[in-house]
Amino acid sequence: MNNNGVEDDDQVIIGKLEELLNSELKASLKKFDCGDVLLNQFAKKQLVNKDENGWVRAFIAVHNNQVVGYITVRAHSLLRDRILASGPREFPSLMVDQLAVDKRYQSKGIGQTLLARAFQCAVIISKEAGIKGVTLWAHPRATNFYENLGMIKVTSATEQFGEVELQLMYINIEMLVQAYWDKSA
Ligand SMILES: CC(C)(COP(=O)(O)OP(=O)(O)OC[C@H]1O[C@@H](n2cnc3c(N)ncnc32)[C@H](O)[C@@H]1OP(=O)(O)O)[C@@H](O)C(=O)NCCC(=O)NCCS
Repeated sequence: MNNNGVEDDDQVIIGKLEELLNSELKASLKKFDCGDVLLNQFAKKQLVNKDENGWVRAFIAVHNNQVVGYITVRAHSLLRDRILASGPREFPSLMVDQLAVDKRYQSKGIGQTLLARAFQCAVIISKEAGIKGVTLWAHPRATNFYENLGMIKVTSATEQFGEVELQLMYINIEMLVQAYWDKSA
């Protein structure tokens, strides 16, 4: 056991919530703490229901029978002028709604792996339906994290959410197909 309480021998497993979820994991969501009140509440009260009812698809990171991270994605269409100056009226995308890693497990590569899972998901969808990229509204504390992973700020597009100004970010599908198609085929 290291000083973060993470057993070094045990691997973190990443997979679809619907395939991994059991009663112990469900109970562990009550204790999930990423340091953000809204993302904690979402884990406790909405994550399982929203996935079960098809509003989002969730991927979770599991360690020692606890959920230690999650990401949710859904089909979305942005009005084109939020991203591009010209072209068709809408910009179909895979929207990442929530991404959170429990505080005890942050900075161990879990957030990055969850986002990569969403990127792979977009690549698979792009082979069956039109999709131009992955989009998300980033909290200011996370914009650098997303930029490091190739996402781009749409500087003209911000949205006030309470006291926080969220930043629209995206990565286009061609880049993801290049990076991920072999791995997801
Ligand atoms: C943001 C968050 C999801 C990142 O997950 P994580 O598991 O801690 O990140 P990772 O370990 O995968 O980090 C990958 C890289 O990004 C860096 N990084 C992590 N968090 C970062 C941040 N907030 N800003 C800049 N870089 C960051 C890491 O140092 C690492 O870099 P390296 O590969 O060069 O070492 C996580 O810190 C979190 O849940 N924060 C609170 C909730 C939140 O803000 N969610 C996003 C809302 S839009």
